[in-house]
Amino acid sequence: MDLIKKLEEFRTQEQSLNWHGTFADYFDIVKDKPRVAELAHARIFNMILAGGVATGKGGLTTYDFFSSEIFGLEKALQQVVEYFNSAAQRLEVRKRILLLMGPVGGGKSTIVSILKRGLEAYTRTAAGAVYAITGCPMHEEPLHLIPHELRDDFMREYGIYIEGDLCPHCRFELEHTYAGHIERVPVNRVLFSEKKRLGIGTFSPSDPKSQDVSELTGSIDLSTIGEYGSESDPRAYRFDGELNVANRGMAEFIEMLKVDERFLYVLLTLSQEQNIKTGRFSMIYADEVVVSHTNETEYQAFVGNKKSEALQDRIILVKVPYNLRVSDEVRIYEKLLKQSALQTVHIAPHTLNVASVFAVLTRLEASKKANISLMKKLKLYDGEEIEGYKSKDVKDLQDESDREGMDGISPRYVINRLSSALVKEGATCINPIDALRALRDGLEQHTSVSREQREHYLNLIGEARKEYDEIARREVQKAFVYSFEESARTLLNNYLDNVESYCNNQKMHDAFTGEELEPDEGLMRSIEEQIGVSDTSRKAFREEILIRISTLARRGQQFDYMSHERLREAIEKKLFADLRDVVKITTSAKTPDPEQLRRINDVIDRLIKEHGYCAVCANSLLQYVGSLLNR
Ligand SMILES: Nc1ncnc2c1ncn2[C@@H]1O[C@H](COP(=O)(O)OP(=O)(O)OP(=O)(O)O)[C@@H](O)[C@H]1O
Ligand SMILES: [Mg+2]
Ligand SMILES: [Zn+2]
Ligand SMILES: [Zn+2]
Repeated sequence: MDLIKKLEEFRTQEQSLNWHGTFADYFDIVKDKPRVAELAHARIFNMILAGGVATGKGGLTTYDFFSSEIFGLEKALQQVVEYFNSAAQRLEVRKRILLLMGPVGGGKSTIVSILKRGLEAYTRTAAGAVYAITGCPMHEEPLHLIPHELRDDFMREYGIYIEGDLCPHCRFELEHTYAGHIERVPVNRVLFSEKKRLGIGTFSPSDPKSQDVSELTGSIDLSTIGEYGSESDPRAYRFDGELNVANRGMAEFIEMLKVDERFLYVLLTLSQEQNIKTGRFSMIYADEVVVSHTNETEYQAFVGNKKSEALQDRIILVKVPYNLRVSDEVRIYEKLLKQSALQTVHIAPHTLNVASVFAVLTRLEASKKANISLMKKLKLYDGEEIEGYKSKDVKDLQDESDREGMDGISPRYVINRLSSALVKEGATCINPIDALRALRDGLEQHTSVSREQREHYLNLIGEARKEYDEIARREVQKAFVYSFEESARTLLNNYLDNVESYCNNQKMHDAFTGEELEPDEGLMRSIEEQIGVSDTSRKAFREEILIRISTLARRGQQFDYMSHERLREAIEKKLFADLRDVVKITTSAKTPDPEQLRRINDVIDRLIKEHGYCAVCANSLLQYVGSLLNR
């Protein structure tokens, strides 16, 4: 990489985002592109739409803006987007606080953080450009300079809605520095940045007693008060609270319901009236989205509190439950692993899947109406087809409970357990059994899990393990069968030889000894029985095969393993049946003979080359399946 060149390009690009002018210049931009003057909710809504909209699984709308980082939360995200949609049209919901409520580690903070990162990026694009009065501590909308008396005309002529008044700082500047000449006031483009505290604010509660509201609304600058003589001089005030900072963008309020009521009322005034009460000043206009999160216990306490009724009315609640789809859970883990230090470690096939099965099982509720196992429910939710169930049944199951997904094991817990297992053992590879063990061991230390719940979880680990046993067995069998393609052909030829002599009433010749032999009825039947050919119909079946052979021969074609669908099925089934023992013996032989060793190596090779295993997990898989078959 040419670092210097890259840096130069970066600088040029940064410079291109610079724009300085006067209000008069800005006015031209607005006339041309009214979008630049949109309010915060509309800006965020347009940002989300700009990412693209699609229809996903089960007909749910999905937003690309979220979909590369958030999985399985379509319903919650749809509600979030609906909120922005209505608020963008300045409907009543705009005056409410968006509150995400859900279990720990369920993605609440991530959703907010995607919105914040999104805004940072969006304001750097042409479509999302934002302009502000230069030097305004709240980077306010320059259109505030237009006197109220002229705004109706402005609206009529350009269709642009102006809301809000100048902040004390800008009002002072307009009078004292520009002598009321609005058109001369400087304006510049601003790029939102959480780090630079521009357009994005974050408030996290600390000790409720010592925490001061000025963290939200700014405070008097004691060092300059002497200079300006009065507390009501805007120059003696620092408009640097999180709500000031977040003007035109978004304020995140972490764990909103943990804070003292004083803070909540500031928030409410803001969302209700677009005003911040700051110091000695009258209300200061602010336009921003307030997003917050909380957990269910706190929310229930809040709802149960009579005193908070007024507040409850002014909140839009969106439930963010855990994801309930195994395939999406796997994607969450893949994402988290990519961000972690575990990249050098090999994750054996099916490991994340098995961990996901367990995690999702802990989140599912037993159906009261339908007699269906959790495992079946899990598969239905994941889009698998299960005999006897239709998509309507899935919907019914989903609708049955309004809080499914609000309990259970979090993705964070799963990843932490996987990581600690790896670190502790210094392993280079982790397989499904390791994963389940790590999850199980963790339950012992998990203090927030009750005894009853632990019992239940341990059972679910057993369920996940059973699922895996099936998968493991199939995987090994498949790997063995492939090395047996040759055997399939041999078996077929052997069968055909026998069938031929049976139908022609001839004896068979042993190629080595020259001995004359009766056709091997046992062998033929053992194959035919696999597909239910009865004793009385065996003759017809065999003759049919011979006819097929000669038909093909007349066309110059050879009969092979694939030429006859049913026969092929019979051969495969027979091989699987025989295989059971071969696999059993081969995988559990303490000192394999050379032939067994060749097979084992074959199978391991295949697992590595074709199925994503490494030598370590391929060997453990064989051992594991060996022990399963010997049970
Ligand atoms: N549905 C999901 N899709 C993608 N990632 C998820 C999902 N759920 C959780 N995660 C990931 O799990 C981790 C924990 O999520 P996050 O911190 O957002 O949860 P939270 O709801 O804010 O939890 P807390 O209540 O503990 O603050 C994050 O790294 C997040 O990316
Ligand atoms: Mg969080
Ligand atoms: Zn201002
Ligand atoms: Zn491995």
